[in-house]
Amino acid sequence: MAHQYEADQWQRHVMNWHDPHQQIEPLAHEIEAVDGALAALVDAGILPHPRYDHAKFLAHRAAVRDHFDIPWTAITPRMQRLLYAINAIAQPRVMVAVGIFCGNTFISNAGAAIGPGAAYQAQRLVGLEINPEEAARARRNVASIDAGKAAEVLAQDGIPWLRDFTSTIDLLYLDADGTGGRGKSIYLDLVETGLHALHPGSLVLAHNSVNCAGELADYLDHMRNPTHFHASMNMVVDDQGLEVSLY
Ligand SMILES: C[S@@+](CC[C@H](N)C(=O)[O-])C[C@H]1O[C@@H](n2cnc3c(N)ncnc32)[C@H](O)[C@@H]1O
Repeated sequence: MAHQYEADQWQRHVMNWHDPHQQIEPLAHEIEAVDGALAALVDAGILPHPRYDHAKFLAHRAAVRDHFDIPWTAITPRMQRLLYAINAIAQPRVMVAVGIFCGNTFISNAGAAIGPGAAYQAQRLVGLEINPEEAARARRNVASIDAGKAAEVLAQDGIPWLRDFTSTIDLLYLDADGTGGRGKSIYLDLVETGLHALHPGSLVLAHNSVNCAGELADYLDHMRNPTHFHASMNMVVDDQGLEVSLY
């Protein structure tokens, strides 16, 4: 089975990282690109169906645009929609995101369960960010659109946190870039450290599967090996990419 879905014009879906709310293509093209990705994930048995509430997604997008303080982000409009949709469809009770910077990556996942785009009720949504200033900013950002208790932002290193976590994770989102030149090669450590918390049906999402494919070669090989993960697909909707894996 093909390990990759390529959306139309993906090479040209490149954003200005300092102007995250700019619409860079007609909304209909964005929806079509993401619908194609969701259909591919359904075909691969990774998602049960491709349906999500488009109006709720736009409410989520508007709240982030109006309230979040985002110094920069590489989450394109297509990626924001894809992350929201995967979470809205899979409805993880426990979602853990590692390397959330100012919180935009976290809310792109968690926004399916909290804030004005909420489409289901989650039990626990954890954002881990090793830089305390950015963790504080992410916490303020999340609080600006949600007053509930499900979401928490922790200023912690994801490796020891995952090692010590004793419950289950339904969706693990990876976006950390390790220190000391390790870059995105930290993803394999993160998934292996958190493996004990995954269960059959858990999803693992990895940002930068396209632009960091070189640094992620060991991770991608591991996730695409069916003796490790049930299925894994590269969602090439933009120049960044998202590897979606089913345990
Ligand atoms: C490049 S940023 C992610 C930005 C995101 N892709 C976006 O576009 O908004 C990666 C973040 O991972 C954090 N990080 C690096 N190693 C980490 C670790 N071991 N645990 C938690 N966070 C980590 C960094 O401090 C940084 O804020």
